[in-house]
Amino acid sequence: MTRDAQHSESMPTASSSAAAGRSPHATQPLVLLKDVNKHFGPLHVLQNINLEVTKGEVVVVIGPSGSGKSTLCRAINRLETIDDGDILIDGRKLPAEGKELANLRADVGMVFQSFNLFAHKSILENVTLGPLKVKKMKNGEAKELAMSLLKRVGVANQADKLPAQLSGGQQQRVAIARALAMKPKVMLFDEPTSALDPEMINEVLDTMVQLAKEGMTMIVVTHEMGFARKAADRVIFMADGQIVEQAAPEEFFTNPKSDRAKDFLGKILNH
Ligand SMILES: Nc1ncnc2c1ncn2[C@@H]1O[C@H](COP(=O)(O)OP(=O)(O)OP(=O)(O)O)[C@@H](O)[C@H]1O
Ligand SMILES: [Mg+2]
Repeated sequence: MTRDAQHSESMPTASSSAAAGRSPHATQPLVLLKDVNKHFGPLHVLQNINLEVTKGEVVVVIGPSGSGKSTLCRAINRLETIDDGDILIDGRKLPAEGKELANLRADVGMVFQSFNLFAHKSILENVTLGPLKVKKMKNGEAKELAMSLLKRVGVANQADKLPAQLSGGQQQRVAIARALAMKPKVMLFDEPTSALDPEMINEVLDTMVQLAKEGMTMIVVTHEMGFARKAADRVIFMADGQIVEQAAPEEFFTNPKSDRAKDFLGKILNH
């Protein structure tokens, strides 16, 4: 699908895309988790998680440390196995391994807290690598795509440098471009700004807000409430491996229902 087609299909406003998820006529969710459970030894890190994310929807996941947010992201990208339940991406169940898994992983872009760029490859090579190796794209085409994505995230002029020559904020934007180069259907972000110096946080959040506006389906673990207010259709609050509550951002931040959420918001708002 061309970007433009994707835009026009998924450009509805935040509220209408969230409403689409509740409509009986809505198309199947892009990401679907059904009764997902995961243990690490005795620790029940994901407890009966049910979650539907509609195409174009932006979901922010927040919650205390250790509540299972990263495990949830990693499970959706199959970096982590689950014990039982189902995870479907665009109606397809996650395959266990092999080529099919590689293809499906390409549908799910992921950006981590640390940028994980290849240190000895140029910025351009970091972005072309996936399209060349996994998508078998031609050299020229991959370069063109990479340059357009680097331009989009505002670092095209850094293309020939090595990652260490860039600021943290620039590296994280390259990581976003690299994930986008695989033309994912959904982007997962796990605390993408928490390792950044404060003055670099906004440049990364701005890139993400832009992506959301363009209709990208996103699941974002972040405590940046400004981002949640600006870009999220829905906030999901996790605690102890469970989704404790979920609501539109304004509703959640001004009127949290559970004591856990009230307590958590009290802590992050006051510090
Ligand atoms: N590979 C692992 N082996 C054992 N325990 C793990 C593993 N990964 C995570 N855990 C535990 O699972 C729980 C959930 O971890 P997870 O990283 O998903 O939490 P989180 O909500 O992302 O926390 P944070 O806000 O600190 O990033 C924690 O108690 C953690 O210690
Ligand atoms: Mg985490």
